[in-house]
Amino acid sequence: MARACRLGLLLALLLPVAGTSLPGTVVRLNKAVLSYVSEIGKAPLQQALQVTVPYFLDWNGEVHQPTRIQISNVHVPQFNLKFIADFGVRMLVAANFTFKVFRVPEPLELTLPVVLLADANVAQGSIRTPVVSLSACFPLVHNAAVSEGSASVAPGLLVPVQKHIKAVLQNKLCLSISNLVQGLNVHLGTLIDLNPVGPESQIRYSMINVPNITKDYISLDINAILFLLGKPIVLPVEAPHFVLPAHMGAKGAMATVGLSQDLFDSALLLLQKAGALNLDITGQLKSEDNLLNTSMLGQLIPEVARQFPEPMPVTLKVRLGATPVATLRANNATIQLQPFVEVHAVASDSAFQSLFSFDVVVNLSLQLSMSRVKLQGTTSVLGDIQLTVASSNVGFIDANQVRPLMDTLFRKPLLDHLNALLGMGIALPSVVNLHYVNPEVFVYEGYVVISSGLLYQR
Ligand SMILES: *[C@@H]1O[C@H](CO)[C@@H](O)[C@H](O)[C@H]1NC(C)=O
Ligand SMILES: *[C@@H]1O[C@H](CO)[C@@H](O)[C@H](O)[C@H]1NC(C)=O
Ligand SMILES: *[C@@H]1O[C@H](CO)[C@@H](O)[C@H](O)[C@H]1NC(C)=O
Ligand SMILES: *[C@@H]1O[C@H](CO)[C@@H](O)[C@H](O)[C@H]1NC(C)=O
Ligand SMILES: *[C@@H]1O[C@H](CO)[C@@H](O)[C@H](O)[C@H]1NC(C)=O
Repeated sequence: MARACRLGLLLALLLPVAGTSLPGTVVRLNKAVLSYVSEIGKAPLQQALQVTVPYFLDWNGEVHQPTRIQISNVHVPQFNLKFIADFGVRMLVAANFTFKVFRVPEPLELTLPVVLLADANVAQGSIRTPVVSLSACFPLVHNAAVSEGSASVAPGLLVPVQKHIKAVLQNKLCLSISNLVQGLNVHLGTLIDLNPVGPESQIRYSMINVPNITKDYISLDINAILFLLGKPIVLPVEAPHFVLPAHMGAKGAMATVGLSQDLFDSALLLLQKAGALNLDITGQLKSEDNLLNTSMLGQLIPEVARQFPEPMPVTLKVRLGATPVATLRANNATIQLQPFVEVHAVASDSAFQSLFSFDVVVNLSLQLSMSRVKLQGTTSVLGDIQLTVASSNVGFIDANQVRPLMDTLFRKPLLDHLNALLGMGIALPSVVNLHYVNPEVFVYEGYVVISSGLLYQR
């Protein structure tokens, strides 16, 4: 099973043709995300800027005297990020570095203000994840202020020590930022992790082209691949490239996620192929609230009463041969199911005896909601359940007569089953430890938009 999975994945990655027919999603990260990143990124940034300073070697005319220098604090009062169109993100950091210079007889404390400007390009990596790379980095180190309390310093020491510190910072700060960005890339790489959809099925997202970057947002085209037993689920018709119109979703939200109709179609195709939508509704004898027995049916179909003078339990085998169809219209999502139902009497030796079968058409309204990273659904029946007799071993059946009974027998178990399935939800594009918070779901003609905040939580 694990081997089959891996093989399926490999094939999906290798087959370029699959790329064009995979369901599309768009993840648009708006300006608000940059404010959030600068807020939660401040602490790691301050830590990354705590570089080690090598000993300062003071030449006293005869030997080099080493003086230990240590960064005792880095304070970052300002950390701003903004989008640069068609490129990536610009970073502005204003920081105060406090150094302890261990000279005799007592240590000296120096504070150096540093302004750091850096540009990072956001591109598509070889494994189809977003990749950030530092393209320019300018640390501007200003002159030191000697902290009050420190005794006056001979300029003979201050000038060379400051020169030493400046050179170290010029060398090391950009490297630290670069390492921080590498760490971020490892994190972004988890976009392509497999997420379970059901016991034998998974979903995996990957970027399909370079991101579109404007001054207001960065927009990523991300395709989904759904796997059943390691094999990709491919829609019978080629999916058109999904485009999310600008200005969708709630204003000021960190993320706007667009989900194409194809994603819904693929998820339903997966559920159908996996047989997850099939169910058996089984009656029990001597049960007051279970109508599934031959004596109940016999009241409507004389032949049943004749064949089963002794009451027998009845089973409805509900099978979905046709793929359910999801329809997305403005503020209205529906699913149409066309199950085939076989009615069996269960004989005393547990043998099934086919009584009759019918075709059902049922329209369901679909309510969508989000929980952490998962999109979930609940359904309720819209209008009447349409029922046509398909075959009978018990003579003529008046559909109008059996419809109310079948409707009663069928409706609740079907909804319970479906809602349990859809309630498990399907993971949306994300990276490890990142959750959607306060999401709002909007349904449009042909696609769904989720406006959401993001929360990074270890
Ligand atoms: C940095 O420290 C200096 C001296 O203590 C202070 O005047 C300045 O306001 C500080 N700058 C920032 C950005 O905190
Ligand atoms: C990026 O721009 C291209 C060309 O304008 C467009 O086809 C594509 O859908 C856009 N992608 C996103 C994620 O906005
Ligand atoms: C058949 O179902 C009805 C309705 O639940 C119930 O009243 C009756 O007792 C059942 N018959 C048997 C034999 O279990
Ligand atoms: C959604 O559309 C269906 C018909 O396609 C209709 O029966 C239903 O009432 C609509 N639901 C809402 C909430 O508008
Ligand atoms: C289901 O919805 C479709 C489209 O709105 C409609 O044509 C059909 O009559 C409905 N069927 C049932 C059984 O409600």
